[in-house]
Amino acid sequence: MRYASSPPECIKTQVGQALACGGLQPAPHAGGLKVRRRLKAAPQMRPTQSFRCCSILLLAPTLLVQAQEARSDKLAPYYPTPEIVVDKMLQLGGLKAGEKMFDLGSGDGRLVIAAARKYKADATGVELDDSLARQSADKISNLKLSATAHIIHGDLLQQDYSSADLITVYLLPIGNDKVTPILEKQLKKGARIVAHDFEFSAWKAEKVVDIDDDGEGRSHRLYLYRR
Ligand SMILES: C[S@@+](CC[C@H](N)C(=O)[O-])C[C@H]1O[C@@H](n2cnc3c(N)ncnc32)[C@H](O)[C@@H]1O
Repeated sequence: MRYASSPPECIKTQVGQALACGGLQPAPHAGGLKVRRRLKAAPQMRPTQSFRCCSILLLAPTLLVQAQEARSDKLAPYYPTPEIVVDKMLQLGGLKAGEKMFDLGSGDGRLVIAAARKYKADATGVELDDSLARQSADKISNLKLSATAHIIHGDLLQQDYSSADLITVYLLPIGNDKVTPILEKQLKKGARIVAHDFEFSAWKAEKVVDIDDDGEGRSHRLYLYRR
């Protein structure tokens, strides 16, 4: 992200949100995470055996998701692509009706929604953050796009992209580096990759497009690669 205005604040805020979304709340007195001692239930409040079993069953999926988020690498903070740039990315990627596109780290789902709605593609977003994944899935369902737009709530480093015609990414350089061997191994010949603002250091771009002003005074650079 070539942040034209106050990037450090933005990154700090987003990282803070990411920690909160991952369920890691610093203790109020600060100075590190504190494990609280479990309080003993008063005798009259002691849960029954079946209540305890139900609680474990209900809590298990949430705990699994939190454990997965904690284990996974956060490859970029949430910083949405302006709508005007969303369209330019999909145009540059030459997305056609019926093609499969994946947005790696899909945020609020704007690229996935545009790909399905405007370009009639079969679009999938992969998003680690619990609340962004839920928010984007709800939006897709409200827009009645569920047949052609999907959100995988998970780690983008753990997915199968072998069917992709187009991949879009807006990740930090370390994120692009980590995803490079996965895409090299999985992508079929001719698949396109469009990267926003940060290039893939291991590849030579087929085309570079500059957007001087996104309407809010920020400039952007897009990179097109082909396998
Ligand atoms: C800069 S935002 C881009 C959002 C969206 N693609 C866009 O262009 O508007 C990066 C997104 O990647 C997500 N992300 C970071 N690491 C991830 C990982 N390992 N797996 C899945 N999503 C991840 C973040 O939560 C964030 O929503």
